[in-house]
Amino acid sequence: MAKLLLAIVMLLHVSSSTSSTSSSSPSSTVLQPLFQYIDEHQDEFVQRLGEWVAVKSDSSDRALWGEVQTLLNMTADRLREMGAQVELADTGTQQLSSGESVSLPPVVLAQFERDPNKPTLCFYGHVDVQPAKMEDGWIADPYNLTERDGNLYGRGATDNKGPVLAWLHAVETYRATKQEVPVNLKFIIEGMEEVGSDGLDELIRLRNESFFSDVDYIVISDNVWVSRRPALTYGTRGSSYFFVEVEGPKIDLHSGVFGGSIQEPMTDLIALLGSLLDHTGKVLVPGLNEAVAPLTEEERKLYEDIHYDLEEMKKEIGVKHFLQDNKEGILMARWRYPSLSIHGIEGAFSDPGSKTVIPRRVIGKFSVRQVPNMEPAVVERQVKQHLQEVFARHKSPNILTVSSSVGAKPWVADPRDPQYIAGRKAVKAVFGVEPELIREGSTIPIAANFQEVTGKSVMMLPIGGHDDGEHSQNEKISRYNYIQGTKLFAAFFHELSQLPKDP
Ligand SMILES: *[C@@H]1O[C@H](CO)[C@@H](O)[C@H](O)[C@H]1NC(C)=O
Ligand SMILES: *[C@@H]1O[C@H](CO)[C@@H](O)[C@H](O)[C@H]1NC(C)=O
Ligand SMILES: *[C@@H]1O[C@H](CO)[C@@H](O)[C@H](O)[C@H]1NC(C)=O
Ligand SMILES: [Zn+2]
Repeated sequence: MAKLLLAIVMLLHVSSSTSSTSSSSPSSTVLQPLFQYIDEHQDEFVQRLGEWVAVKSDSSDRALWGEVQTLLNMTADRLREMGAQVELADTGTQQLSSGESVSLPPVVLAQFERDPNKPTLCFYGHVDVQPAKMEDGWIADPYNLTERDGNLYGRGATDNKGPVLAWLHAVETYRATKQEVPVNLKFIIEGMEEVGSDGLDELIRLRNESFFSDVDYIVISDNVWVSRRPALTYGTRGSSYFFVEVEGPKIDLHSGVFGGSIQEPMTDLIALLGSLLDHTGKVLVPGLNEAVAPLTEEERKLYEDIHYDLEEMKKEIGVKHFLQDNKEGILMARWRYPSLSIHGIEGAFSDPGSKTVIPRRVIGKFSVRQVPNMEPAVVERQVKQHLQEVFARHKSPNILTVSSSVGAKPWVADPRDPQYIAGRKAVKAVFGVEPELIREGSTIPIAANFQEVTGKSVMMLPIGGHDDGEHSQNEKISRYNYIQGTKLFAAFFHELSQLPKDP
């Protein structure tokens, strides 16, 4: 009995001392009521996500642009209700193949009342989604948000409706708990992201000297974590897409009749594609690797702290081994080194069975993922020159044409930048752990565009889980990530306001 009492006394002591240390720090006095409000209103926040998911804002289908507009209007209305000044900015027209030109959906530009003593944060997000059909393999209607085992399934749940709403709810939480939002806030929300953000670049340029002039930080939440731990993202790869066309005879030929007597376009193409990289994945295009920014010791250390289960990943994607034999090597290959992938051959025989055709014309397709300090225009020149040189050595009578589509630039930020420090503190306050500092192997052109045009600090602060399945069937966000993510944004406002002022 005495022992039990002693244990209880000790427990009480431990719990009271931990709670007193945390509540005595100024951050938790501010954050506690916000977090409590978010917890208590989570069902409302989930319900609102359901209302947003129900709007079929698939920007790839022009017949659904009205839905995109509806959701942009709903976003504008929410922002106005919270006291923001909102403009639906015109982004021009799009020329259709029929010659008809149609107005693009507008971009929502919103700003809250400004206090010159506070830092100014601008959030970018999008409310359009990828296509989704039940018959693609969804287990429930993609436009009817469905909760199962703690996950909220629906198109746009994580990309990007959930995160956009989490930002709005973070603002709402300050207002509802009668706390002053400690930063100046701006929002830029578009509805054409999934089809290339037509008109957005131009708008950013046009508003650089007005809307963006007093912005200190730009934050984007349009990606996901890489593990079960929260993350801050400080880089994305760029990309360029190439088409290698080899054209030979006037007509397709029979291999039994002409095989052995002519230089076949497919043979040329295979040799060309084969000259692009070696069996270790190294890109063989001369000059391409030389532009890659050198790895610093400080950067290398960031990779040590990232949780990445090599064995689990091998199982998940079904490969025996990676090209690198350790976590750091694999992640660097995916994030900070260039890669080249061959995607397909147009004009090649690809049906089942054995057809003995010699295709007269084939087009190989590949892309190059690019990293700092590579320039897409330079890469395009290097790739074309390399292919032309290889082809010239073969003395083929066929005609080679190499073309490329406009490349997106890579982006990298300095993770020691003040907004990253605030982001780390906010993660610590909500999740109790340090975030992983990560990069994205895929291409998200918006960050590079913002940085290049406005010159402002850009950060990606994701809240989606690593298994959310953006763009896939059964896209979801977990209730946990959605609600904790809302707290993260509320805490981020606070931590930004606590940064030492510029000297
Ligand atoms: C959106 O709002 C604009 C301006 O208030 C209005 O002209 C337009 O009809 C609305 N569109 C939809 C689809 O609700
Ligand atoms: C959404 O799904 C629920 C069942 O999970 C169903 O009760 C409801 O009627 C559905 N809503 C719509 C609009 O289809
Ligand atoms: C955008 O405005 C900033 C000042 O806010 C300036 O430094 C930058 O050069 C401008 N960008 C362009 C492309 O003019
Ligand atoms: Zn997105």
